[in-house]
Amino acid sequence: MTYPDRIEVLRWLYGRLKPHRFLHTLGVEQLAVQLASRHHLSVEMASSAALLHDCAKNMSMEELLKICDKAGVDLKRNQDYPQLLHAFAAPIVAQKQFGPLPEELLNAIRFHTTGHAHMTPMEKLIFSADYAEPGREPFPGLMEARDLILQDLNRGTLLILENTVQYLQNKNQNIHFYTLEALQSLRQEIQSEGRDNVQ
Ligand SMILES: [Fe+2]
Ligand SMILES: [Fe+2]
Repeated sequence: MTYPDRIEVLRWLYGRLKPHRFLHTLGVEQLAVQLASRHHLSVEMASSAALLHDCAKNMSMEELLKICDKAGVDLKRNQDYPQLLHAFAAPIVAQKQFGPLPEELLNAIRFHTTGHAHMTPMEKLIFSADYAEPGREPFPGLMEARDLILQDLNRGTLLILENTVQYLQNKNQNIHFYTLEALQSLRQEIQSEGRDNVQ
């Protein structure tokens, strides 16, 4: 599989993202690459997915709605979560620019904010790298999450999902159904991992 040329992607992003978003993207890539080599996943895919994950972030709501509607995203079910549309739109925007990309990479981009049930390792990696990238302003639990995802991708991703749900609950904000499904599914996965280890 060949991925889009890194410099070409950076040049494209530089022209379409706000400076702080561009720097965040580089931070996500740095951690994603580190996680991929630590957990024996494709470094090239992690780099491309990280670079492209927020490529639709600075588009207008009107454009995002149009793209998501055309892609079959259930806009009614997602109407309380307009801030998530950039993730659902990103696979379409990225492929329009760089041609067909692997489904695994596209799903890692699509679910980078919400997670979802039965996440693949690459999806967990991008979700976690987005949360814990080195450029984030420090907040409670960040260092612990960063350390844990490097040691154990499943437990680290679970901690991030739990922190995210807690944060939203404290702010009285709705929690996306995909995030709740991700939390439940990953808890089960870790439980069955424990059972397999005992046997
Ligand atoms: Fe994002
Ligand atoms: Fe991001």
